[in-house]
Amino acid sequence: MKKVIVAALGVFLIAIAGGGTWLFLEFRAAKVDTVGKVDFDRPLAIPPIASSTVDSDGTRVFDLSIQKGTTDLGKSHPTRTWGINGSFLGPTLRATQGEKVRIEATNKVGQATTLHWHGMHLPAVMDGGPHQMIEPDATWKPHWTIKQPAATLWYHPHLHGETASHVYRGLAGLFILDDPQEAGLDLPRTYGVDDLPVIVQDKKFDGDGQIDDGHSIFSNLGVLGDEILVNGTPGPYVEVTTEAVRMRLLNGSVGRTFNFTFDDARRFDLIATDGGLLEGPVSMDRLQLAPGERAEIVVRFAPGEQAVLRSEKLDGDTNRFSGSDSRFDVLQVRAAEALSPSRRVPSTLAAIDRLDPDDVAETRSFDLQNFAINGREMDMSRIDFAATVGTSEIWDVTNTDGGVHHSFHVHDVQFQILDIDGEPPPPHLAGWKDTIWLPGGETYRLIMRFEDYADPDMPYMFHCHMLRHEDQGMMGQFVVVEPGQSAGSIDTDHHDH
Ligand code: C2O
Ligand code: CU
Repeated sequence: MKKVIVAALGVFLIAIAGGGTWLFLEFRAAKVDTVGKVDFDRPLAIPPIASSTVDSDGTRVFDLSIQKGTTDLGKSHPTRTWGINGSFLGPTLRATQGEKVRIEATNKVGQATTLHWHGMHLPAVMDGGPHQMIEPDATWKPHWTIKQPAATLWYHPHLHGETASHVYRGLAGLFILDDPQEAGLDLPRTYGVDDLPVIVQDKKFDGDGQIDDGHSIFSNLGVLGDEILVNGTPGPYVEVTTEAVRMRLLNGSVGRTFNFTFDDARRFDLIATDGGLLEGPVSMDRLQLAPGERAEIVVRFAPGEQAVLRSEKLDGDTNRFSGSDSRFDVLQVRAAEALSPSRRVPSTLAAIDRLDPDDVAETRSFDLQNFAINGREMDMSRIDFAATVGTSEIWDVTNTDGGVHHSFHVHDVQFQILDIDGEPPPPHLAGWKDTIWLPGGETYRLIMRFEDYADPDMPYMFHCHMLRHEDQGMMGQFVVVEPGQSAGSIDTDHHDH
């Protein structure tokens, strides 16, 4: 009997020791640090500008093919990936304010997906959310008029429950908007030369070089990769030939937040956030971007030098299993021996009309907790509320989940941050935004105005842009209605329009 007890105790102790070792290994592996360890031996890929045709009524038409392929991501074997008009990521769409656009998107991946135009002001039925599924081999043809100022937007799938996996396999691209006001500013704007798309994504691979989306059971954010791809290039470098270079940064990750800085902590000018130009440049030496956020920065280089864009530990957060103490070397910049001179960034960039907090039709609260918003999980057939065309609203958004990272993204509109925990936003968050980082315990007060496109039956989404959270149900739906109208109902069988 004693022997049995001793043996049982032994097994128990081994189990504890084994469990402890496993926990220790998980904890150790969750901290990634690639600083100084990246070779920077591949030229940065520049996504091509999507070709387009202009049809008889002046509509700019883009042809997109959502497809499967294999991509050399620096592994022993080609990696099976998805892409748009290519094997990984998609071309950069580009259109000008006032232009009519139509996208003809054909789905060739063998399963239903969607394409959502993140940051775009457009009719809900064209938005590419979970109600606009593109079935296999079908072509979806959304069309709208660009009614917003110059900005760096992006596009990605947005189907209910599987957005993270479709984005992680490679479906994403930039959508750059131009306008005459921005075009008149003395800013770097030669695409791929002094105006660089910089889509940053973390990625994890298995031993065969295939994308691995398995995640640590301790990671509430889902998969956090231990390598960085920029525009799909591992270990990228880029040669620049001008003193000033504009970078259009997109955090295209599914769950990881980046804290961008340069290896010598040089300052750069932040000129634009999600929805377009700031009133004036904001000089910074680091900039945190949650998944889905964009920023345009202008950085200056000296002839012949090299500098590395990095991502540092997050500010004010230490949750290792959320990636907060990970560091990455992201992109090496190699400046030519002779650089063409560039002017300083103009001190005035754009006029931003401040929305008036005393003139709002509604104030709403959103509590993000436990994969739900205000205690409710996403339900495709439930419209959470209706906003009225021609009115402004204030949304109080709080993360009551403690140490869990959340973010908040609203479709259809660009908003302004009124305050963060009662304090006015810092200058770098004072422009137009569509996505915010939402650390535990903080309340952001957002103000937004609803214009155009009333449709009581087709909703827009609001959600956490940590894609695992979105997929798990941290998302809701609102409609925009005419004054006096109320929300209709969603026909959830009706996928196409
Ligand atoms: Cu970038 Cu609702 O999405
Ligand atoms: Cu979240």
